[in-house]
Amino acid sequence: MILAPMQGLTEVLMRRVYEECFPGAFQTAVAPFISLTHGPLNNLTKMADVMPDNNRGAMSVVPQILGKEPDEFVQVAERLSEWGYREVNWNMGCPMRMVAAKHRGSGLLPYPDEVRAILDRVVPRLSMALSVKVRLGLKSSDEIFKIVEVLNDYPIQSVTIHPRLGRQQYTGVPDMDTFGQVLPLVKHPVVYNGDICTRNDAIRIRTKYPQVADLMIGRGVFYRPTLPLEIASNSNAAESYPPAARHFIGRLMEEIDRCIPSEESRIRKKKEYWCLLWKSLPISEIQARGVLRERNLQAVDNLIAKYTQ
Ligand SMILES: Cc1cc2nc3c(=O)[nH]c(=O)nc-3n(C[C@H](O)[C@H](O)[C@H](O)COP(=O)(O)O)c2cc1C
Repeated sequence: MILAPMQGLTEVLMRRVYEECFPGAFQTAVAPFISLTHGPLNNLTKMADVMPDNNRGAMSVVPQILGKEPDEFVQVAERLSEWGYREVNWNMGCPMRMVAAKHRGSGLLPYPDEVRAILDRVVPRLSMALSVKVRLGLKSSDEIFKIVEVLNDYPIQSVTIHPRLGRQQYTGVPDMDTFGQVLPLVKHPVVYNGDICTRNDAIRIRTKYPQVADLMIGRGVFYRPTLPLEIASNSNAAESYPPAARHFIGRLMEEIDRCIPSEESRIRKKKEYWCLLWKSLPISEIQARGVLRERNLQAVDNLIAKYTQ
């Protein structure tokens, strides 16, 4: 199972704490994207997230690149290869309007010729495997069919499909009909991603689409931190749950205090996680919102501690 890349959430701090609390739950994590705009190698925070010294755990990490500039792509990939990485993931799913409008992320999906031109210039120069993460399209789910024809012409390690459109962002439900039509057309291993929040969600996908090579989980791991273990063992972790989630939240908050110097940034980061994590606890939305209303760190900490004791 693969931990999804989530900008601001599944960076190295979370990956480390998660692995400490749930060793072996994920075999792989795709790291949040490194953008090629504004000089990729100058993007120190993003590169630091995948620096080998920060990523010595058992969970293997696949760095991800967002952009359409072949030379910069290869330049970043070369650095990653020097750092020992054997695979890089190309983001063709990012739905942010500013990104998509510039033919990056999901904004590339309506332009299969552009995708081909980029792959022509990148693939022969890569000294590592390339995987891709896509949506069904930017504005129409027809787009994926042309994209798959292009991807089938290149050596691609895996294709992760999140069956929504870019313009949907995260609203609506995954379009499983189109996913089912596309799946047999992809000649590379396909990873399914989207709205896996319970063990039954995973079972449903594996049963209906046995050819899916792996599952990628994003938000679901915050809603239910034991989820990948439950899927892997095909059992409900009811006995250790929610104590396991509470322990994970507590450790995450401790690491935020240890690693983030500014008090304001710590508050912001804790609230970002809390927006998803509260669902793993037996509390109401009204109680959860109380944390988001607090302005000072001590008050945020006190409330989170109260709900995770
Ligand atoms: C806050 C946030 C940040 C994300 N950042 C990235 C990213 O950096 N790269 C990427 O490919 N997808 C990113 N995604 C998309 C997720 O990887 C995933 O495709 C999406 O959340 C659907 O899967 P889920 O339903 O399991 O969460 C992000 C999603 C969210 C909500």
